[in-house]
Amino acid sequence: MFRKTAFAAIFILISAGMAVAADDLMKRAQGQFKPIPQDPPAIEGNAATPEKVELGRMLYFDPRLSKSQLISCQTCHNVGLAGADLQEVSTGHGWQKGPRNSPTTFNAVFNRAQFWDGRAKDLAEQAKGPVQASVEMNNTPEQVIKTLSSIPAYGEAFKAAFPGEENALTFDNMAKAIEVFEATLLTPDSPLDQYLKGDEAALDDNQKQGLKAFMDKGCAACHNGVNIGGSNYFPFGVVEKPGADVMSEDDTGRYQVTNTAADKYVFRSPSLRNVAITQPYFHSGKVWSLHDAVEIMGSAQLGISLTNDEIDRITEFLETLTGHQPEVTHPVLPPSTDNTPKPVL
Ligand code: HEM
Ligand code: HEM
Repeated sequence: MFRKTAFAAIFILISAGMAVAADDLMKRAQGQFKPIPQDPPAIEGNAATPEKVELGRMLYFDPRLSKSQLISCQTCHNVGLAGADLQEVSTGHGWQKGPRNSPTTFNAVFNRAQFWDGRAKDLAEQAKGPVQASVEMNNTPEQVIKTLSSIPAYGEAFKAAFPGEENALTFDNMAKAIEVFEATLLTPDSPLDQYLKGDEAALDDNQKQGLKAFMDKGCAACHNGVNIGGSNYFPFGVVEKPGADVMSEDDTGRYQVTNTAADKYVFRSPSLRNVAITQPYFHSGKVWSLHDAVEIMGSAQLGISLTNDEIDRITEFLETLTGHQPEVTHPVLPPSTDNTPKPVL
């Protein structure tokens, strides 16, 4: 009888202990990470209206923003491919390769600043970059406005999106419309987010071990908040600089923006949202396996050799960051007219 009672007591104590441990893990995770909201956040100075979002969607998909009229935002940030292009580095105008891997546009609205080196303060400032970059769309603001103005339906769409503005069809308004559209590209309801909202069963045991390791080992120091990253700058190679097979000497990162020696090889820690489906990895795009990327982070950022098991668990945890992908319909774009500039390849 005594033995039976003792066993029961021990069983209750162990279960209670496990419940506390599980509860602790959830509480710790809730302190570090926040779920992606269901609805787009409000953007200061750029209120969203259905007309503006719709115009932004048209522009995001319209290759006529590029000089060749072949390349759109969608080319390198494919909404069917988690907002990325699955290329080492992007290919743009005239089949030119750019210097960096294309980050996803999904959830980008929650990043502190845009680009690997944070050189654009928000999505509107960012959107003006690729249109003009010679290795991307290779166009000029004047030519974009000339093109869009030659298409009557765009004149109407800009007026509807920016009511009361005498001259609504401007390069700035193009960027603002794209910004509010991009803010709708959210991926809520990932298993991690369901867990953060209190669903204990949303992660399995391996994924929970991975989550614990991610926090215990120090990954969460640089990858936290709503985007599990995207909020701060760090040297790539805090402890051990990765070899040339992962990072080229030529791309000095934030140093190119600030010209400060301390910013050499400093990059924004990227968001890890949907990271399992946005390979390849790092600004160089040199690493195709998430397992390898985790191992590199261990040695480069933390100066530790993670065991194979730890890498597996962390990788399984990172897979829980894949959220519900937005279903975006390709818009029917208004036709060009005789006045529309011709494509230049
Ligand atoms: C970066 C949007 C066109 C390739 C970005 C980012 C956004 C974005 C939001 C920053 C994401 C982040 O930092 O996390 C757009 C929009 C486009 C457009 C709205 C159309 C107007 C393109 C095109 C290409 C491209 C056509 C490829 C030819 C890249 C690359 C980066 C980037 C390589 C990273 C550049 C760096 O960090 O220096 N884009 N993009 N984008 N995009 Fe695009
Ligand atoms: C990039 C995971 C620790 C800062 C990445 C990437 C992954 C990752 C998967 C590539 C994302 C992509 O290309 O889309 C991890 C894991 C860690 C960890 C699992 C713990 C083992 C850290 C720490 C820091 C940090 C401690 C800051 C000291 C960065 C930076 C990049 C990055 C700056 C961008 C590197 C570049 O391409 O320039 N991380 N990370 N990470 N992480 Fe971490």
